[in-house]
Formats: sequence, structure tokens, C-alpha cells
Amino acid sequence: MNEKSAPLPVVVLISGGGTNLQALIDAAGKSLPVEIRAVISNEPDAFGLERARRAGIPAEVLNHRDFADREAFDRALMQLIDRYRPKLVALAGFMRILTPAFVHHYEGRLLNIHPSLLPRFQGLHTHRRAIEAGEREHGASIHFVTEELDGGPVVLQARVPVLPEDTPEKLAARVLEKEHRIYPLAVKWFAEGRLELRDGKAWFDGRPLERPLRLDEVEPRPAE
Ligand code: GAR
Repeated sequence: MNEKSAPLPVVVLISGGGTNLQALIDAAGKSLPVEIRAVISNEPDAFGLERARRAGIPAEVLNHRDFADREAFDRALMQLIDRYRPKLVALAGFMRILTPAFVHHYEGRLLNIHPSLLPRFQGLHTHRRAIEAGEREHGASIHFVTEELDGGPVVLQARVPVLPEDTPEKLAARVLEKEHRIYPLAVKWFAEGRLELRDGKAWFDGRPLERPLRLDEVEPRPAE
């Protein structure tokens, strides 16, 4: 991207602590060519809202409990998001199942981070389930969102070992560290036009991805 092009407008959706949001905020202040125009939470007490306010970003609450059903909530959510005219909507710990209407509306500009090596462990409690399944490796995935829950094309993954003494909390912390690296990276690629959804596949640098990229093969190694 040349230096003069405008930063990509992004809206981030959260439900909780917002450490991934923080990673995006921090990167947006440096190498990430995006403008986070708003942060929206369905949970009024989400700490991520405070992170947004501290960064001077509009923080909005849309409580799903105030709506009769999922369709009505998603309609209101779309209206709220679209006021900010984002070119990308980033789900960062947004713990809601989305309606097909919502997913279609943002097709190709909706990214999610999921705490597992998809397609392993879709859904909830991924860390506990990875330990119980005896996995030796676990991790996190960035994927385009499609109608299938946690099933859209995976773009980038990072792996961590599962250690014998791991608890779900310890493992979650190890995975989160990686999450904070892969989300800003994938969003940067999207902002630079290197990453797109085409014909239901993730494309990177003009080619369809036959498998997800791995952090360890794309990240420059820190100088030793
Ligand atoms: C992250 O681990 C994210 O991968 C997960 O929620 C956590 C949010 O943490 N997302 C999902 O489980 C989506 N199904 P954060 O609020 O500190 O970014």
C-alpha cells in the first residue's frame, strides 16, 4: 500500500475483555493501515468498551437481551455498524451466532478469530476440549465468516504446544499471545488488498489458499 492511501475503515465487535481489540488498537497506532471507527459490544459490561474509550474510539452497546429474537438484534446491529461505513468488520471475541442475513450483508468483509486450529474444535470451550482430546498441538485461527458456524475459509493459524501440566486457563493464555499476533497481521493483509474472499475461498496475493497460512512461515523472525 502506498503511504498516501486512506486507512481502511473497520468496526470491531466484542463481547468481553477485548485483548484482541487491544492488539488491533495498538497495531493501528503503528504499522496497521486501518482506522477503527467504532467498537460495538452486545455485553454492556465488556471491558473492551473501556479499552475503546481510552483509545478515543466510539464505544457502542447493543444488548441482545433488548431484542425479541436473533433476526431483530442482527438487523439493529447491521444498522449500527453501517453508520460507520466500514470496509471490514472484525469479530474479536464476539460471542453471538450470526444470522444468514447478517453474514450475507458483510460477505467478504467479515473476519473472525477462533481459539482453535480449525476445523478442530468449532464452538465453545475449545481449550478444555483440546486437553481432553489429548491434543499435542492447539492454537488459533483467523477465518472469513460464512453461514457455517466457525466454518468459513481459514486464512492464518498459529500453533502452540499442549503441555502435560496444562489447564484450560494456562493453555488459553498461551493461545491468546498468538492471537494477538495473527489478528493484526491478517487485518493488515486485508487492508493492503492482499487477502480476499473469492468464490467461497480465501485468496492471498492473487492465489487461492489451498491450506491456511501458518504464522511461523509468514512472520519475519526477530533479529537474534
Ligand atoms: C479469544 O480467545 C477469541 O479467540 C475467542 O474469545 C476470546 C476473546 O478474548 N473467540 C471465540 O471464542 C469466538 N467463538 P478477548 O476479548 O480478550 O479478545
